[in-house]
Amino acid sequence: MVRARLRQAARPALTRALRAVGAMRRRAVRPRSVLRSEPVSRKFGLDRGTAIDRAWIESFLQSEAQRIRGSVLEIGDPGYTRRFGTAVTESHVLHATGESPDATIVGDLATGEGVPEEAFDCIVLTQTLPFVYDVVGAVATCRRALRPGGAVLATLPGISQISRYDMDRWGDFWRFTDLSARRLFEAEFGEVTVRTHGCVGSACAFLLGLAAEEVPSGLLAAVDPDYQVLITVVATSPAA
Ligand SMILES: C[S@@+](CC[C@H](N)C(=O)[O-])C[C@H]1O[C@@H](n2cnc3c(N)ncnc32)[C@H](O)[C@@H]1O
Repeated sequence: MVRARLRQAARPALTRALRAVGAMRRRAVRPRSVLRSEPVSRKFGLDRGTAIDRAWIESFLQSEAQRIRGSVLEIGDPGYTRRFGTAVTESHVLHATGESPDATIVGDLATGEGVPEEAFDCIVLTQTLPFVYDVVGAVATCRRALRPGGAVLATLPGISQISRYDMDRWGDFWRFTDLSARRLFEAEFGEVTVRTHGCVGSACAFLLGLAAEEVPSGLLAAVDPDYQVLITVVATSPAA
């Protein structure tokens, strides 16, 4: 009798405890699925679909498409100029060594050697600054290469794997934050617009090499300033 009463009295507490355990199990991360020594892709997920950083880069360039006009300089290849350019009159490609068939200019962003001055209305500077040791010199070269009223559209990696291809050619030196990107561009251009993309989930997915198509919908729109995966910058040169 006494036992039965005690059992009866303990039932609500037991039910609460079992529910709490169930909820913890549902929330639990399965570390083995994430904590692995090998990524699922070493190519930023490009071999599985759209790389997560490229999804943000494309929406950034789409939103700034009206600035990709007139004489446009892009680094390495003219892919984004072709895709997002509006009223482009001249498309140029700067390459460090000229080994690309698309190169129209062989030059050094760091020193400015080979890069013409006041020649471009827009410079598409995507994912390039990590590979130039003298980033201060590179941003100064971009400012000198712009015509009055022109714009640099830059993207910089924050949390990211090494780019082995670039590391083995010119070097992979830097990762950035919104603070370093702002300081770097403000020193040359004055006021600039800087935005960050990424949260802990997209940072993990990107490091693992998952593609944008493989992550839950809405994850790429979540922004956590403590987990910056990509930083975008719009810097404009004063109109004449
Ligand atoms: C990963 S690609 C970035 C551009 C590419 N369009 C993109 O969106 O990924 C790196 C580029 O940096 C260029 N690069 C590296 N060091 C350079 C330098 N000192 N001056 C000019 N370009 C440089 C290389 O030629 C290469 O095309």
